[in-house]
Amino acid sequence: MTGRAAPGTSDLPHDGSGHRAQLAGTSFRLADGTTSRRLTLDGPAADKEWAAKQAEALPHYESDIDRPPAAVLALYRAFENYIARFLYGRRDLAVLDVGCGLGATLPPYAGLFDPGRGAVENVYVGLDPFAGAAERAYPFVQGRLEDLPEAIEPAFDLFLFATSLDHIRSLGEAAAAVRRLARPGAHAIFWVGLRDNALLGRTLGMTHLQPLFADLGPIAFLGRWLKLALYDLPRHYAYFRRQNWRLRHGRPLDRLHFHYFTTLTIEGALRTFGDVIDRFAPPGGADLFATVRLPA
Ligand SMILES: C[S@@+](CC[C@H](N)C(=O)[O-])C[C@H]1O[C@@H](n2cnc3c(N)ncnc32)[C@H](O)[C@@H]1O
Repeated sequence: MTGRAAPGTSDLPHDGSGHRAQLAGTSFRLADGTTSRRLTLDGPAADKEWAAKQAEALPHYESDIDRPPAAVLALYRAFENYIARFLYGRRDLAVLDVGCGLGATLPPYAGLFDPGRGAVENVYVGLDPFAGAAERAYPFVQGRLEDLPEAIEPAFDLFLFATSLDHIRSLGEAAAAVRRLARPGAHAIFWVGLRDNALLGRTLGMTHLQPLFADLGPIAFLGRWLKLALYDLPRHYAYFRRQNWRLRHGRPLDRLHFHYFTTLTIEGALRTFGDVIDRFAPPGGADLFATVRLPA
């Protein structure tokens, strides 16, 4: 695999001599001695199924980018706090955000890496297969995690996977790439959306019960109660039954993901990367944050 730097900067070597880009502060040092804030890896043309899922997902990402829904914003904040707790007492870490998204500015959960917010103690690098914004306010690699180790020297102390793990085809390949890119003592922090019916049902319950008690007039209450009992609940029941069947038979739940983790399967998935040393489930939802210590 060869890599090339962004237009206007020097190419990474194609000569097989083993020279790869190095992370040098907040930019990459290329083999010819020049530096660049952006690297572009050769595309994974061979994986057509992955490319099709990415194309299907792109409009979703684009529609959310400026204004994420309030519930997602709350999760972003919670994830940022989770990362901050890990960083407490640590400094001078190089952080790779695997699947950072499209934005010109730092993702909402990564504001703590903004040099404008105080001391620059850690270096944040975004990685995403989508080119996204033409100019990014942070060092950025366009490409897939699986292809990165060929293009850059091992350099990272912390890997973030913010709802990106289920978009990566092979967890084994992802874990191998992380191991090749990791410095000794490195960790990975994951944010994963789970698909358990019971967890998703919790969110749904709140959505439906809140309006039920908003107007306590007996007629309004009865009307809403009947709609819930006769229309909403049967509809959701049918949806969950179908989803349950698909999960049990290993069928995809949509056209965007390779994996659909549940509380039962996520532990094994995370163990592909290393030892799970911490877990936190934000209350009321179906998400899990977890920290993994990579093998020494
Ligand atoms: C749901 S988005 C999450 C974006 C961002 N982390 C956030 O939470 O707003 C998943 C991201 O993973 C990226 N992705 C998919 N396959 C990938 C791969 N093999 N390596 C790295 N990133 C990948 C997608 O392009 C997409 O931007």
